[in-house]
Amino acid sequence: MSLENQIQNQEKQSTKVFGSNLCESILLAADFLDQVRQGSSLTEALAKAPSENRSAAQSLSFEALRYKPKIIEALKQFINKAIDPEVEDILLIAISTLFKDSMNQYAAHTLVNETVNAAQKSIRTRYAKGLINAVLRRVIENPQALEITVEDAQYPAWWVKNLKKSYPQTFQPILETYLKPAKMFLRVNSRKSDVQTYLKKLALAEIETIEIPLEWQQLAPCCIALKNSVPVNKLPGFMEGEVSVQDLGAQMAAGLLAPKRSERYLDACAAPGGKASHLLELEDIDLDVLEISPDRMVRVEEGFKRLQLSAHLIIGDACDSSTWAKGKLYDAILADVPCSATGIIRRHPDILYLRRGSDIAELQQLQRKIVGELWQSLKPGGRMLYVTCSILPQEGESQIEWFLEHLKDALRLESLGQLLPNDWHDGFYYGMLEKKK
Ligand SMILES: C[S@@+](CC[C@H](N)C(=O)[O-])C[C@H]1O[C@@H](n2cnc3c(N)ncnc32)[C@H](O)[C@@H]1O
Repeated sequence: MSLENQIQNQEKQSTKVFGSNLCESILLAADFLDQVRQGSSLTEALAKAPSENRSAAQSLSFEALRYKPKIIEALKQFINKAIDPEVEDILLIAISTLFKDSMNQYAAHTLVNETVNAAQKSIRTRYAKGLINAVLRRVIENPQALEITVEDAQYPAWWVKNLKKSYPQTFQPILETYLKPAKMFLRVNSRKSDVQTYLKKLALAEIETIEIPLEWQQLAPCCIALKNSVPVNKLPGFMEGEVSVQDLGAQMAAGLLAPKRSERYLDACAAPGGKASHLLELEDIDLDVLEISPDRMVRVEEGFKRLQLSAHLIIGDACDSSTWAKGKLYDAILADVPCSATGIIRRHPDILYLRRGSDIAELQQLQRKIVGELWQSLKPGGRMLYVTCSILPQEGESQIEWFLEHLKDALRLESLGQLLPNDWHDGFYYGMLEKKK
């Protein structure tokens, strides 16, 4: 093969990402960003996408949104007029790969060529391919332009306002944490295996793990941290239910509830079923699983099938117990209520762009309504674990205070309270209430 052909061949190879084509992946990622702008989540956009180029586009779109606040500020140095959102999206996708922590790294010439090709292929961006080419080249030549502090970055106003109000001293480290990718954690199914046995299986499969600090491992004893994310089909025994994928922070719920054999439990907002299946892995309990969304309940069913677990699945509204409680009283209720999801922005960077400031007050009302209704189905002496994946006090500590004031027979038990996201877990709130006897 001539040298010229070899170079051409190499060039072709380097445009392949995870067996996908970079230009096509950029186009698909741009489509995902467009859908987020129309109000769909990335998860919904991904679910509808063709399998070809999907994982590459997923990674590109996630990082584009993760770095968007910094890139928007950086672009002011190179563009002095408003640009169309579709053009901005292509730039976000390409420029996000230039951050040194980005998981998507390409040779500069490949990135420029493929980005310009992608811009050319869409009628909405074709006219701006010269601008995209010029801006991208200038950012590549001036990488220091991307060194924007989180203080200067252009975060959505509702987010900065809430975060600064809630954490005036520490909002910057929180924003920094959200720029790092989250780790992949496994939960070993204690009905089928244990951590030590499964660690050996991972070693045999050449999947590297990292040791979890004792303080967190104690709160999530079935948890294993992987050094790098892997597709679930590469995990030994995944299809047989030996492990599930679940954040370390989410794994703390079952331990806090400490289920006891034959007791009656309700998981009131259950899909996709991560915490419910953990409870069943730990003990033979009588579990009712309530979820408002039939589509999301399908995910609970699939998970239970893989893990060979069973419970009573009920599609219903936690705000209206007349349709599902039928006079039943529970020993314990898990209220993992819908929330702003501001604790899991690392895993869902689209949250920042899907939420509006007014959502927080609306969510607060919904959470109060759900807990107030569920409270009636709790036995005297029973416990309720109130959980959110939010870091906003309006959805955490303030809610517990409100419940104590408005639920006359409620007592507060010790729990974890607000967990802020760190290198080990996402952001969660855990509050425990007991109904007076
Ligand atoms: C935070 S997620 C629950 C996560 C789940 N506990 C787990 O660990 O996998 C909240 C769930 O509550 C459901 N939900 C929202 N409003 C509800 C309601 N009024 N009644 C029952 N479920 C509801 C949502 O569809 C969503 O699946």
